[in-house]
Amino acid sequence: MIRKITEGVYNVGAIDWERTLFDEIVDLPQGTSYNAYLIIGKEKTALIDTVEPEKYEQLEKNLEELNIDRIDFIISNHAEQDHSGSIPMLLEKYPEAKVVTNAKCKEFEKDLLHLRDEDFIVIKEGDTIDLGGKTLDFIMTPWVHWPETMTTFLREDRIAFTCDFFGSHAATTHTFAEQYDRIYHEAKRYYAEIMMPFRQIIVRNLKKIEEKNPKIIAPSHGPAYSNPEFILNAYREWISPDTKNEVLIAYVSMHGSTKKMVDYLVDALANRGIEVKVRDLIHSNLGEIAIDLVDVTTVVIATPTMLAGPHPSAVYLAYLVNALKPKVKLVGIMGSYGWGGRTVDILKANLGALKVELLDPLLIKGLPKKEDYEKIELFAEKIAEKHRELGVMK
Ligand code: FEO
Repeated sequence: MIRKITEGVYNVGAIDWERTLFDEIVDLPQGTSYNAYLIIGKEKTALIDTVEPEKYEQLEKNLEELNIDRIDFIISNHAEQDHSGSIPMLLEKYPEAKVVTNAKCKEFEKDLLHLRDEDFIVIKEGDTIDLGGKTLDFIMTPWVHWPETMTTFLREDRIAFTCDFFGSHAATTHTFAEQYDRIYHEAKRYYAEIMMPFRQIIVRNLKKIEEKNPKIIAPSHGPAYSNPEFILNAYREWISPDTKNEVLIAYVSMHGSTKKMVDYLVDALANRGIEVKVRDLIHSNLGEIAIDLVDVTTVVIATPTMLAGPHPSAVYLAYLVNALKPKVKLVGIMGSYGWGGRTVDILKANLGALKVELLDPLLIKGLPKKEDYEKIELFAEKIAEKHRELGVMK
């Protein structure tokens, strides 16, 4: 379907209702879309980004419905194939078209799509292209989430085409975000899984977009925003250094001992006025855990010892937290063991990139006893003290 953004600007991309996984790890409970924006000027026509190649037919059909027999510029904001993958087919259909992008993106697309030098027009920060009454400004916004990513700004209509930046994996027929709770959640999942590791750089990129004072933000996944403050405010909150008075306990338990410790800790923290989120690592959705990581002050990884170390699911979680680089301030390790092992060393090694304080680990032998529960009380009190110290709890 074609979705009109404003006069002469259309989303001609594809909706992918069926897709459930991205990059073979990111879950898409709400499907996704690959938005491609057609801009028709008085003299020239540009297409901003394309679609996942397997959805090319939807893009082609939309262009044919609009009677587009010439595209002058294919603006490529990002080389990842869900946005660039249909460029080769489009160049075949519209042989006069040139791919407009920055030097780094050009090199990526030569590697990924086997495009040739002569297919490109290379632009840089501050360059513009006039389509006739529709002027495109190019703003370099690197690392949202690859090093070559950029934003195209349509000056007259004040529309920022930000590609993945501000996107949400949400299949919807809405042109603009309307179901704000749903889109907030999916945009937060998107931020947590894709953008969070680049939080510091996003601060600069966000400023560049704010300076343009856009009337519309049109990302390449999910609906566009006719109320840009909705998504700008959400990003301001997510990238701020502030955390909430929350603890995420991510646990795995084989025979129930670690689970008993977790249950006790939940109550001990809640009784101290801390909000607790509990995720069973075997059955929880990784995307939801990533969302929790956006705000929490403390993460507790709870695992039994097996194969002389932590349960592999706990190692996976530690690796993921390390890679996503949330603004977490404190990490705790706890669990039950039978006869020793290297649980703490292995988890610590997997958390090496996080600038966090590590609580003294709490490992107990077998099923927790009375004195073990007293240790969990102290563990909870340590977390509460830290939360008070950090000012996240009164
Ligand atoms: Fe939507 Fe980084 O691709």
